Amino acid sequence: MFEKFLTKRIKNTPSSFIREILKVTQNPEIISFAGGLPNPISFPQEELKISMNRIADKYGAKIYQYSTTLGLDSLRQYIVDRYKKNWSMDITIDNVIITTGSQQALDLIGKVFVDEGDCVMVEKPSYLGLLQAFCMYRANFVQTKLNDDGLDIEDLKKTLSAYNPKVAYLIPNFQNPTGLTYSKENREKVFECIKDKDMILIQDDPYGELRFENDEKIPYIGMNKSDKNIYLGSFSKIVTPGMRLGYVIAHKEIIKQLETAKQASDLHSNIFGQYLIADYLLNNDLDKHIEKITQLYKTQANAMVDAMKEYFPSNVKFTIPKGGMFTWVTLDEDADVLDVFNKAIEKKVAFVPGHPFYVNPDKVNTLRLNYTNADVETIRTGIKRLSEVL
Ligand SMILES: Cc1ncc(COP(=O)(O)O)c(C=O)c1O
Repeated sequence: MFEKFLTKRIKNTPSSFIREILKVTQNPEIISFAGGLPNPISFPQEELKISMNRIADKYGAKIYQYSTTLGLDSLRQYIVDRYKKNWSMDITIDNVIITTGSQQALDLIGKVFVDEGDCVMVEKPSYLGLLQAFCMYRANFVQTKLNDDGLDIEDLKKTLSAYNPKVAYLIPNFQNPTGLTYSKENREKVFECIKDKDMILIQDDPYGELRFENDEKIPYIGMNKSDKNIYLGSFSKIVTPGMRLGYVIAHKEIIKQLETAKQASDLHSNIFGQYLIADYLLNNDLDKHIEKITQLYKTQANAMVDAMKEYFPSNVKFTIPKGGMFTWVTLDEDADVLDVFNKAIEKKVAFVPGHPFYVNPDKVNTLRLNYTNADVETIRTGIKRLSEVL
């Protein structure tokens, strides 16, 4: 009825497939591996309650007032200190803006850098939230293949020379949807390929801290070596997603443009949440808290991998996550994953069919499984149900 009033922008943007699926999975009898929800037992509820009282006493009306677009200085400074300490990132507070989740950061970056028809390179498959956000700005996407150790370098070279993308969007740590992580060598090769290109490189990193093994910290691609790098971080997976707080680290000229874009979006991110998270971070040991979350998720990931090894037919392949929240399953080439999905729902188990993670989803034989929001026993039961369909 309102069709004739709608913009081309909204007409061309699909509604989130996952949100549609989540409606089906509301039925409590269905075991859902579809969402990407953190486990609620990982939220530091007691500590946040103490922080809530403390900020109310300490700051009074300020926590309820309008505030600055760039975000709370103490929170921005915490981010600077953490990235300097952990990754030797060469930044100051002028390189940081707080956003309403990293999802808003993606939208603001689209607003600032993507004109209609601009070429944006993404991984194949890529995060559907980015595809949706940049679709609004009518980006022209190209997808570069992803291998077990990162971007396919030959495919990357071909994409760069054929399309000369203006923006590239990568998730090098525990990627959504595949759970894959780029090796150190792969990151170096990627940087070699792009360093002389006139291109903005976005590295989205909501899962980087959820590392199951305490092995070497893998560096960001081209860190401290390029002014055109944009890093995205988020408190969603390491503290709580409901506060909707994330951040961008980038050159201060880029931050200025994002600030203008954000003024037009929401003036500033929720200031109560910013005071709360800042107080929590400054009065607790985040590393210890992250250690607890990763131990929990490692147990859940192992349970899913073990159950898949035990129950899935041998022609079904899956990634073995070393962190993050997902594993990615590949069926036979001629399999119809939507058919598998419908049969799985009948068996009361859900997942996300691979479609929304591709720019041109024609024949899709892949699916995403999330393991963070179900206990070990439920994971085994759900995988067994799914194996009966497979
Ligand atoms: C790769 C990636 N980027 C960004 C987001 C958005 O996270 P948030 O807006 O909660 O920070 C998600 C959420 O699942 C994600 O997987």
